[in-house]
Amino acid sequence: MKNRFLVPIVCFFVLGFGCAFAQTPDLAPTPPMGWSTWNYFHHEISDALVRAQADAMVSSGMRDAGYVYVNIDGGWEGYRDAAGVLHPIPAFPDMKALGDYIHSKGLKFGLYTGPGPRTCAGAEASYGHEAQDATMFASWGVDYLKYDLCSFREIMQHESGGNLQKSDAIMKAAYEKMHQDLLNTGRPIVFGMCQYGWGKVWEWGPQVGGTLWRTTGDISDTYGRMTSIGFREAGLSRYAGPGHWNDPDILEVGNGGMTPDEERTHFSLWAILAAPLVAGNDLTKMSPVTKSILLNKEVIAIDQDPLGKQGDRAYATGPLEVWTKPLQGGAVAVGLFNRTSEPANMTLHLAKIGWQGQAAARDLWNHKDIGVVNDQTTVIVPKHGVVLLRLTKSGS
Ligand code: GAL
Repeated sequence: MKNRFLVPIVCFFVLGFGCAFAQTPDLAPTPPMGWSTWNYFHHEISDALVRAQADAMVSSGMRDAGYVYVNIDGGWEGYRDAAGVLHPIPAFPDMKALGDYIHSKGLKFGLYTGPGPRTCAGAEASYGHEAQDATMFASWGVDYLKYDLCSFREIMQHESGGNLQKSDAIMKAAYEKMHQDLLNTGRPIVFGMCQYGWGKVWEWGPQVGGTLWRTTGDISDTYGRMTSIGFREAGLSRYAGPGHWNDPDILEVGNGGMTPDEERTHFSLWAILAAPLVAGNDLTKMSPVTKSILLNKEVIAIDQDPLGKQGDRAYATGPLEVWTKPLQGGAVAVGLFNRTSEPANMTLHLAKIGWQGQAAARDLWNHKDIGVVNDQTTVIVPKHGVVLLRLTKSGS
């Protein structure tokens, strides 16, 4: 067991990053969209619940809006038998049948494990059984694997003797190992790395096969936590692109902890960030407001723009921030975010976002064209709210 990570480490440092076949960019040419059990249901999950959510994904229009992955997060893992086979808890009697059901709805199947002996919740994870688990997941029809570092941190600490560089190398090798094992199954599987942004994962995630990687610790359903994660993504835009995306975590829209303006900020910011849009609420009980946010096709189109460019902060005056995202055909999405607790007037400085001349603007939350805008255009942005515009050349 001692040298189990040696081959990937050698691959990494001697042969260079190129020895890993990256997962193909066409696995996720635009940021993955779907739903996850985690934010709302945590460990209270079962086959019946996942089927009901999959049904709701179809009946609510979520699937047709682009949300296709049905991701079972932590909580499904049972025991590992003497032959090393990992069994689900009894609430998931037949994972292959569940995968078939998900696929029959035109959806895709996501699952969760990690490189350590245990998940964060203390359940069985894939350490020492990576290839065996990957093969089983592929046989169940898994299309997306979230791989969560959790207890592997103890292995890193132990095997590196506390040396940070060695510890980082061991972590990278563990992700590369599962990546190779997934490739060996022959099934295209999105590889979602979850190690909370450690070691600037955005700089090396693609080289160990990551289709996406969490850039931060866990989100929670508050404006404070959501914004501290979302606005901290400034500067990461150059690391994302087709097939490799920064992931600021599962959405909290519809979970009750934020006002509608705060949730519109959340969804707009994630769209500008070209973040994976993975809903984390109960899809069987969505209010009209929740639906108007998660199903806003004009905002989804910003996230899913085929150019595949992540946006970034253009300028800010204290807590009044303007973020932009380049779009196909020379258009630009502009988010004017008011992080204060009072409504604010915000002026759109076209020169500061690199725009020449006049622009025609469309308001993507009010679904209306607001006409030509110039350097003097001022909008009123609600407290903790956003005005999200799509700019095109005036006259085009
Ligand atoms: C955390 C992870 C969460 C969720 C949870 C499950 O480590 O960041 O997104 O997967 O584990 O226990």
